[in-house]
Amino acid sequence: MSLKSVTDKGLQTLAIHAGENPDPATGASAPSLVMSSTFVVDEEISFSANNLTAETPFVYTRWDNPTTQQLEQKLAVLEQAEACIAFASGMAASAAVMLAHLSQGDHLVISNTNYPGTAEFARDTLTRLGIEVTPVDTSELANISAAMRDNTRMVWLETPSNPLLRISDIKGAAEIAHTQQALLVVDSTFASPIATRPLTLGAELVVHSLTKYIGGHGDAMGGSVCGNQALLGPLRGEALVHYGGVISPFNAWLIMRGMATLPLRMRCHEQNAVAVASFLETHEGVEKVLYPGLESHPQYALAKSQMDNFSGMISFRTANAKAVAERMMKKLEVIHYAVSLGHHRSLVYLMQTEDLVGSSYRLEDAELEKYRAAAGEGIFRLSVGLEDTDDLIRDLETVL
Ligand SMILES: Cc1ncc(COP(=O)(O)O)c(C=O)c1O
Repeated sequence: MSLKSVTDKGLQTLAIHAGENPDPATGASAPSLVMSSTFVVDEEISFSANNLTAETPFVYTRWDNPTTQQLEQKLAVLEQAEACIAFASGMAASAAVMLAHLSQGDHLVISNTNYPGTAEFARDTLTRLGIEVTPVDTSELANISAAMRDNTRMVWLETPSNPLLRISDIKGAAEIAHTQQALLVVDSTFASPIATRPLTLGAELVVHSLTKYIGGHGDAMGGSVCGNQALLGPLRGEALVHYGGVISPFNAWLIMRGMATLPLRMRCHEQNAVAVASFLETHEGVEKVLYPGLESHPQYALAKSQMDNFSGMISFRTANAKAVAERMMKKLEVIHYAVSLGHHRSLVYLMQTEDLVGSSYRLEDAELEKYRAAAGEGIFRLSVGLEDTDDLIRDLETVL
């Protein structure tokens, strides 16, 4: 038994049932974990990824795997996409999209502050391959328009973005990208499909680090790209089969299990984050709080129109950030001082300005000043987890 229709079901039902099928041999209700790297076949199948089609049976797990396929189908349903491909990590997914859809002489417009791995990959690897890259603050549509060129083939947004939680207008960016026949790609990791579905707002591809909210438990790395078959075809053959960044079926299974509670978790992440952000806003030791669900966020109206859930990511600034970080490392009882985000456990980390603007973003002049005005010497990125709100606030009180 599997869902007969997904269009008449709610998100909680889809997060649990979409893509999953009871095991046909045993009737097991939970999805089966297929840890086989190869499959016994009863017909000749081409050994070339170039001949891979949607009808090709399972051959080898780097090409496709029954457990991974169930995860991909669930993700596609939640993102309202025709199809999805899972990868070994969010970075494997991002790199796959850029390398499969950009070639020498093409031009990419990308957010000038975003996940540092993506920023460095665009500025170093893509430019080494002869792809032109223009980083701009995509939270202002005029900056995207001004950056477009005749050879622009892709516009890349991360919204909300790392670490300043800037929101980019997906619908507006799609209109701009499409006047130039460029693809709009959205890294929606901070939002999750519970908050935002970029494909319904005009994007061609949506990328996730499954390591974060979607897996949700901090125990499995993964990435995904959702979109239509025509755009995903080159990704499966080239990026998955040839670059080899395939997800382990075990991780796919863990992430699928995590997804069953994604709508419930996102509701709790938001509820806790609203309470913690409101506490931080009134604390005398805190200079600035950025949270898309606070009216004080510079793009609160856009966040409200584009996000069904404000997620659990807060950035805040204090005086003497390094000393506060030291106290956090020694004194926090509940919140872990660690990178990453979207887990059930709360995590906090100081994103040091000099580190990021120099080595990852390479900001200059007005953009550098704008970053410093928002982040000071560094900004704390707090991923609010699912613990009791009072415990989180008490933990923060001891270090602020
Ligand atoms: C917004 C965003 N995109 C992509 C990535 C990369 O994901 P992964 O660590 O799964 O490779 C991260 C990781 O922190 C991220 O925050």
